[in-house]
Amino acid sequence: MKRIAVLGSTGSVGEQTLDVVAAHPERYEVVALAAGRRVEKLAEQVRRFRPSVVSVAEPAGLATLRELLGPAAPPTLLAGAAGLEAVATADCELVVAGLVGAVGLAPTLAAVRAGRHVALANKEVLVMAGALVRREVAAAGVTLLPVDSEHSAIFQALTGEDPAHVRKIILTASGGPFRTWSAERIARASVEEALAHPNWDMGPKISVDSATLMNKGLEVIEARWLFDVPPERVEVVVHPQSIVHSLVEFRDTSVMAQLGLPDMRVPIAVALAHPERLPLELPSLDLAAVGRLDFETPDTKRFPCLSLAFEALAADEAAPAVLNAANEVAVESFLAGGLPYPEIAATNAAVLEAWTARAGGGALRDLADVLEADAWARARVRERLGAATGGNPT
Ligand SMILES: NC(=O)c1ccc[n+]([C@@H]2O[C@H](COP(=O)([O-])OP(=O)(O)OC[C@H]3O[C@@H](n4cnc5c(N)ncnc54)[C@H](OP(=O)(O)O)[C@@H]3O)[C@@H](O)[C@H]2O)c1
Repeated sequence: MKRIAVLGSTGSVGEQTLDVVAAHPERYEVVALAAGRRVEKLAEQVRRFRPSVVSVAEPAGLATLRELLGPAAPPTLLAGAAGLEAVATADCELVVAGLVGAVGLAPTLAAVRAGRHVALANKEVLVMAGALVRREVAAAGVTLLPVDSEHSAIFQALTGEDPAHVRKIILTASGGPFRTWSAERIARASVEEALAHPNWDMGPKISVDSATLMNKGLEVIEARWLFDVPPERVEVVVHPQSIVHSLVEFRDTSVMAQLGLPDMRVPIAVALAHPERLPLELPSLDLAAVGRLDFETPDTKRFPCLSLAFEALAADEAAPAVLNAANEVAVESFLAGGLPYPEIAATNAAVLEAWTARAGGGALRDLADVLEADAWARARVRERLGAATGGNPT
């Protein structure tokens, strides 16, 4: 029986994790759940999985949760950062990091420091603090298991291989909903259009990131740290069918790929069961029915966010945290109806450029350095938004 804690249990990754767990009650016990604001959904999960530690984003949500659960409430109910930390360090073998954005960094680090293995979906953690997280993971002697489908593919392709034999890592990108759109049409994209991903049903932030290709840029940074490869050995190829989830080329030019129908329960199950494999009741990949697999070079003119990720990696250790924070605020504003779509990339580029123009700094010694870079970037975006909206940033 493996005991697990889920950070972000009400999200797309969190719910699919609980689906996999529910199909294998003899193997997994859920000991802790953390969610944000969807308290009713969380209450259902608590009734179903009976964790002993539960956390929500706000104290107000806590009162609602207590009311909803009544006498079924678990012994420990918490809110905010303390709640996330309690879930991340609950008594278990594996923490599923399924929060979205920078809020996941501190609890994921807490889980690692407490000696928990981590199944990482929350890519922003490695984007913000890759070098730091790698050091902490090594010091604690724990394993970081990728949940992102591309990184799970690479992880699987690397099994049994010598990392020194890797020539390059090739991340596939679906190209998102605007792959075939002209630059003029993309410039007028609405929130609904940006959220309509052709192959994956995901949370709103990653869906917008997939439309801008910022998601692929974040994944390049994630791969750099997860597999300890220099950025010049990471490539991106657009593959609209999302069947080949990523590839590794070795020094003899052999290329290993992992294929499957796009379903996040597969990489989630790989991470939950590692080093075993779980039986999943899902349809098999029928290559004849798929018919063809296409590949294209990404167009960084229409999708400049991809290049920004490589620029951030080349700049300094903190630049990816700056890019990530700028992107989080810009996407939040776009989703709230504030920022027009092209301004996401423009904002990210401007804030990254302002960071690299600063003299000195840029090394990440500890969490405080990461949070400082993150706060610096958020302040720059808010200034920019304030200037654009006459002092009323959305
Ligand atoms: N979805 C996918 O298929 C997929 C695939 C690959 C990688 N990923 C990565 O996995 C991560 C999660 O993505 P997702 O699509 O599952 O996102 P999502 O559906 O938006 O879920 C995010 C989760 O985080 C919780 N949360 C957000 N802010 C919080 C806060 N301040 N305090 C506590 N909880 C908070 C949310 O709670 P409430 O909903 O209750 O507010 C929700 O449970 C992202 O980093 C994404 O890039 C996702």
